[in-house]
Amino acid sequence: MNKSKQYAPATQRNREPILEVLLRVVPPSGNILELASGTGEHCIFFAPAFSPRQWIPSDPNPIARDSIEAWRQESLIKNIQSPLNINAEKLSWGLEEQQLNITTIVNINMIHISAWTACLGLMEGAKRILPSGGILYLYGPYKQGGKHTAPSNESFDQSLRSQNPEWGVRNLEDVIKVAEDKGLMFQEKVEMPANNLSVIFQKQ
Ligand SMILES: C[S@@+](CC[C@H](N)C(=O)[O-])C[C@H]1O[C@@H](n2cnc3c(N)ncnc32)[C@H](O)[C@@H]1O
Repeated sequence: MNKSKQYAPATQRNREPILEVLLRVVPPSGNILELASGTGEHCIFFAPAFSPRQWIPSDPNPIARDSIEAWRQESLIKNIQSPLNINAEKLSWGLEEQQLNITTIVNINMIHISAWTACLGLMEGAKRILPSGGILYLYGPYKQGGKHTAPSNESFDQSLRSQNPEWGVRNLEDVIKVAEDKGLMFQEKVEMPANNLSVIFQKQ
């Protein structure tokens, strides 16, 4: 067994409903950049559905990148690239000058487990990188109208904030506002299992 491989049990539960949405909203051509890929279990499940288009995973955490690379190598899937070191907050993601033909950015379960500045950086980066018509796909729990949508999300929010006061379940309207300020227009939200949402934006 490869010791670098990390496991996040939630990925086994949410990967099929997420893939169902991705298959519907991802544009018909271009490559997919995943921010905050975590263990890498998602990308080995999603990438084959978009082959031969490239799935480009990334994470700022070196332990996560080692895990993504271990899952990638074991999978033998050809259209997953080696993980990039991208911190959403940074003013450059190190790929802006490259011709990577990225038409989709996927970001799952990050904006509540990072400072609000990561969400701001994500929107700024999506604005820099996506072409007109490109898609930003977000997944996670959200408050709506300032209110939690389920008691489980409220206790999750409290536990996040107790770990780091800068973390916490975001208000959907706030996320839409910062996205639209960057020209990423809200397209739709999709109710997902366990009180999560898929939230889809399209670059103007
Ligand atoms: C809860 S994990 C989610 C991982 C994976 N997407 C999943 O759903 O299993 C949060 C991930 O966000 C990453 N992360 C935290 N802050 C970040 C930032 N500023 N930019 C990019 N990724 C970040 C962490 O390294 C971690 O891998």
